[in-house]
Amino acid sequence: MTWWADATVYQVYPRSFQDTNGDGVGDLAGVRRRLGHIARVGADAVWLSPIYPSPGADLGYDISDYTAVDPLFGTLEEFDRLVDDAHALNIRVLLDLVPCHTSTAHPWFKERPGFYIWAEGRDGGPPNNWLSAFGGPAWSYDPGQGRWYLHSFYPEQADLDWRNPEVVAAVQDVIRFWAARGIDGFRVDAIDRLMKDPQLRDDPPAAVPFGLPVEGGGTLALTNSRNGPGIGKALAAIRAAAGDLFLAGEVYLPADAHPSFLEHLDTTFAFELFHAPWEAAALRQAIERGIELATPTRRGPAWVLSNHDFPRVATRWGAQHARAAAVLLLTLPGPVFVYQGEELGQLDGPGAERPIDRAGRDAHRHPVQWDPEPRAGFTDGIPWLEPVDPLERSVAVQTGDPLSVLELTRALIALRPHLEPGLLMLETEPGLVAFARGESHVVVVNTTAAWLPVPAAAEPLILTAPGGVRDGRLAPNAAAICPA
Ligand code: GLC
Ligand code: CA
Repeated sequence: MTWWADATVYQVYPRSFQDTNGDGVGDLAGVRRRLGHIARVGADAVWLSPIYPSPGADLGYDISDYTAVDPLFGTLEEFDRLVDDAHALNIRVLLDLVPCHTSTAHPWFKERPGFYIWAEGRDGGPPNNWLSAFGGPAWSYDPGQGRWYLHSFYPEQADLDWRNPEVVAAVQDVIRFWAARGIDGFRVDAIDRLMKDPQLRDDPPAAVPFGLPVEGGGTLALTNSRNGPGIGKALAAIRAAAGDLFLAGEVYLPADAHPSFLEHLDTTFAFELFHAPWEAAALRQAIERGIELATPTRRGPAWVLSNHDFPRVATRWGAQHARAAAVLLLTLPGPVFVYQGEELGQLDGPGAERPIDRAGRDAHRHPVQWDPEPRAGFTDGIPWLEPVDPLERSVAVQTGDPLSVLELTRALIALRPHLEPGLLMLETEPGLVAFARGESHVVVVNTTAAWLPVPAAAEPLILTAPGGVRDGRLAPNAAAICPA
């Protein structure tokens, strides 16, 4: 069995994790300092959102040098120490590979224009109707070149041309550079955007909903601006350079488009569950769509309920459901990803007074709350984003409190290796999500505000609320794991 098959991966957003030099921004030394927390939570691996030099238009996802560490976060030597310390604690290290685009400040943009996707305008406007993920056209005019370049995200993030073999080779070199430093894998960013229609044809009007929230409200079918032909060859090149490193793909497409990605990547994120409403039928359906992807010859999805791009799970589904959501996530088969702070039930915050992220994602990126004090133990300086509610919620206060989300998360992660393979959805009351993990355990989640019958006879091993099961019924908003 591979180490990642049922792994729990802890996502660190370095900027908001732990500051050590008082500049108010988290850094690699901070990640090192807090590895003990990640180990105590029980994670098998840590994924670091981008740590590379970046002008910061997309806070690290606009990379100007793929093979260095942004001085804001530290140095390569500091990174090497982090990898060594993590490995000593049996924690694997994943980096964020961003192969789809570079910053327009990357030297390639001026020196190697052929690395990018250029086109002539149409009727004085952009070459086609493709939209940027953050709104507006996916094209910007470059006066120097006298033509337009493609950017699937911010204008500061120019899309690389993966039909150019030199681009493929250059990114392969990047992969080998980090592999040689001893990392264990990559989360691969925006990989569904790697290939687009080579003829750059318009996206047609949408006949059916896209299936996931998208910019533009889903009026276009998004069939030409992403998921284009040739993806298999491109992914094979990434795999060839990565060897047996773990590769988790951010494929922002409905599940039925994932199989071609899973031929080369080890897993892809199940965004349908992420974006499902807190309703039993929708949750059951999203889980089943993910499970159906996993066949004996093909890998399955990675489960995730929060990241740095969308409202946190406790905000989205409601703080009263944070515990049940943790049970749901951490009992699913296959790799699971936990976003820093999720283990505390952290909520979104107000963001910055003057927005830092133009796409409105500051709210999901407030610092991890370590201690019950105004700066949350995150920094001695002025935090780049204020902690949200450190007096109510922190690692220090939740540690040892059996009713806390933190201790629940630890218990759930500790139980994961004992859950038998496979997931069978059980027929139950409409408001419950209940499934069997092999013959070992039954998981029951109550999505409603009513007491509902538990489809398991045995005493729960894990229960999210004391007295949560009475006369064979599960309390409102509660979840239970019972021996089968
Ligand atoms: C991914 C990242 C997101 C970033 C985008 C462009 O979706 O998760 O934060 O803005 O790719 O790199
Ligand atoms: Ca710092």
